[in-house]
Amino acid sequence: MNKMNIDNKGIPPLAGICHYESALKEGYSVERNVDLLRRYNYVKKSVHKVFCAHLAKTPEWEVKCAISYHLWLEAEHCADIRKRVSEMREPPLQMDTIPDLNLKKLLDEVIRAEDTVELLVGIYQVIKPEIIRALKNHLDDTNPMADQPTHRLLKFILMEEEEMVTWGKTAISALIQKEEQNQRAERWEKHLTAFLEFAGGISGDLLNETVVVPEPRADGNEYEMDTVPKRDERFKDNFNQSALIDEYYQDPARSMEERTYALFYKRLREMDVPEWMAPIIFKSNDKPWEYSVDMSRQLWDEARHAMLGEIGLYQAGIPFYKYPVDLKASMSLNIHFEPLEAHLILWAIEQGLMPKKTGKQWEWEIATQSENKLAATVQDYDWADEVLHAQIGRKWLVPQYGGLEKAKAASEPSMRKWGESMKKYSDLSKQEEWWTKFMEEVQQNKALNR
Ligand SMILES: [Fe+2]
Ligand SMILES: [Fe+2]
Repeated sequence: MNKMNIDNKGIPPLAGICHYESALKEGYSVERNVDLLRRYNYVKKSVHKVFCAHLAKTPEWEVKCAISYHLWLEAEHCADIRKRVSEMREPPLQMDTIPDLNLKKLLDEVIRAEDTVELLVGIYQVIKPEIIRALKNHLDDTNPMADQPTHRLLKFILMEEEEMVTWGKTAISALIQKEEQNQRAERWEKHLTAFLEFAGGISGDLLNETVVVPEPRADGNEYEMDTVPKRDERFKDNFNQSALIDEYYQDPARSMEERTYALFYKRLREMDVPEWMAPIIFKSNDKPWEYSVDMSRQLWDEARHAMLGEIGLYQAGIPFYKYPVDLKASMSLNIHFEPLEAHLILWAIEQGLMPKKTGKQWEWEIATQSENKLAATVQDYDWADEVLHAQIGRKWLVPQYGGLEKAKAASEPSMRKWGESMKKYSDLSKQEEWWTKFMEEVQQNKALNR
């Protein structure tokens, strides 16, 4: 058919979404669309689980930061996909069922990565590039006007997928330093690709009956996560508790500057919260998806708080790994506590941050009294995030204890037990004093930059 001349008064027609010609395609039926969205949801939900399983034990700080971010993006994408499916006359939604057993077999392998390179290869070199291929096909094939809400949603997801893959591929090449590592990475990629091909790709459109699937690592049992948190070799003396940062920032005898640096350091140490939240989310199988969204957002905020500390130290000319970053909190919680109790402890801490005169508002007031403008911004947003976290705790945790008072009462013995369990980690360090040296370095760097 020839293009028709039509008088649109020179104004882009069809709300600027597309031209008539591209809106003529038949595109996907609602049924096909829903089938595909269910597959994406399943894969993304599984990737979210892989991230939760590996966050604590992955040693590299920068990888912990990125997977904290990406696991929140996965949670958000799944929530958006679920919402879109609910709009397409498809109850029951079946968003928590497995759409294809072969996809499950693939993701059961991905989660069994044995080190950081394998973890990243599985996600950023096998799964995500295939998600990108599937999303691009979907965007090309579906009718852009009839299915505009899906089109819009997938465009946003695609953009974030591409950003994630760019990070992942750069991280993989940085981590592969030796030929032997390279070969291992290639073997793992080949192993997973066979499972991917056997599933016909994420959309199921690449079915290849000739693929021979290798012996799987999965043995049919549920994957058990290793909850012990690890940090990489740049971090030294991980159990040094000699700097009493929580006291320093409150101490009126110290300068506002020193108190502000105690706050930056307090932020930096928050990486232990993602390490302790990841197992809580991983082990919460019986909760609605909204729980994963809220908890993943909180986890990401805590990683962001740690990075805000990292930025504060960068401003002072000090690498974030140079002085001890205490690991006892996540170490003790992940080893000695069940997820529900670990969550209760987190909630109790965050409740304690709310009073005006001693909590987050006060931290912000201290920062605003120093000359450090960045510290004021950091504390301002940290305070906003923590108000959100207190609400998340109220929404998901308090009902499990039968109300606010009961949750508070239950938290007291748990906090005591936690305090006791942390004590045993102090013997793992000589507890050499370092804070004075740190503050001297801050001062020296400041003098050099004048
Ligand atoms: Fe925080
Ligand atoms: Fe928080």
